[in-house]
Amino acid sequence: MRHLLNTTEFSRDEVLEMIHLGMAMKAEPEKFRTTLEGKSIVTLFEKQSLRTRVTFDVGAYRLGAHAVYMDQQNGVMGQRESIKDYARNLSRWCDGIVARVYDHNTLLELSRHGSVPVINALCNLYHPCQVLADYMTVMEHYDDVTKVKLAYFGDGNNMTHSLLITGAILGSTVTAVCPRGEGPDAAIFNIAADIARKSGAKLAVTDQVADVRGFDIAYTDTWVSMGDNTPLDVVRSKFMPYQVNRQLLEDTGIRHVLHCQPAHRGYEITDEVMDGPWSIVYDEAENRLHAQMAVMATLVNQKRD
Ligand code: CP
Ligand code: NVA
Repeated sequence: MRHLLNTTEFSRDEVLEMIHLGMAMKAEPEKFRTTLEGKSIVTLFEKQSLRTRVTFDVGAYRLGAHAVYMDQQNGVMGQRESIKDYARNLSRWCDGIVARVYDHNTLLELSRHGSVPVINALCNLYHPCQVLADYMTVMEHYDDVTKVKLAYFGDGNNMTHSLLITGAILGSTVTAVCPRGEGPDAAIFNIAADIARKSGAKLAVTDQVADVRGFDIAYTDTWVSMGDNTPLDVVRSKFMPYQVNRQLLEDTGIRHVLHCQPAHRGYEITDEVMDGPWSIVYDEAENRLHAQMAVMATLVNQKRD
């Protein structure tokens, strides 16, 4: 049984195949209306969501499936009953589990004990579905993804990790530009770097904005992720030099801006950039729908072991 937990489960060709399937679904949605006919997919959320929650639900419906939404009323998984029992029960009724969790280990447990595919809808370490949509958006603007240079600005977090891993699989260039001490997790960077050695991707971490002069895409995300209650104003002065604003885009020559959203306007990104000609963030948000339809179509139709 194959899962999407951190994208390392997939080869370059398989990632490209999912992105191209998402593009085909975007272009001709009517062709895929019965792809998952009669299937039921649980969408479990321990944390808040707008985009992920709605796009999995709408995407399941458009493929002929049914989404069963379970919100935070159930609390953190493993408290009312074991994650093992949770996974075994859900596997008797449903054909896939989409889960947004606090702890990546919860996803590992679900995948170990269930008998249906598990799709990571964000955890503390990764956000793989977001980055499939991100690279789908990149590929709508650039013919050759191996030549695209993406600079991630801000906090080294779950987004940074998934960008590094997926960029590495695709053979692309990804540089994380983060304040000293706030870069990506070293062990996860090393996983991505191992993949990059084989694919020819170029990965780096720096605290110098000048290192990404001539790059194509700026990516940013919140300076404080869900699960951390630090007020943004407490970290503002540390992260402000990495804010994606007009000056940074002019200094680097970067032409396109991505943001997974929710955006904190005036913090990691300015209104001017979010609403300006560089921004492709709403295409990116739309593509969550198409990319995740491709993920569900690829994984939910597998035969059970
Ligand atoms: N980008 C993203 O995952 O958005 P939500 O948290 O609203 O789902
Ligand atoms: N890094 C953010 C991503 C939100 C989509 C978080 O985990 O809150």
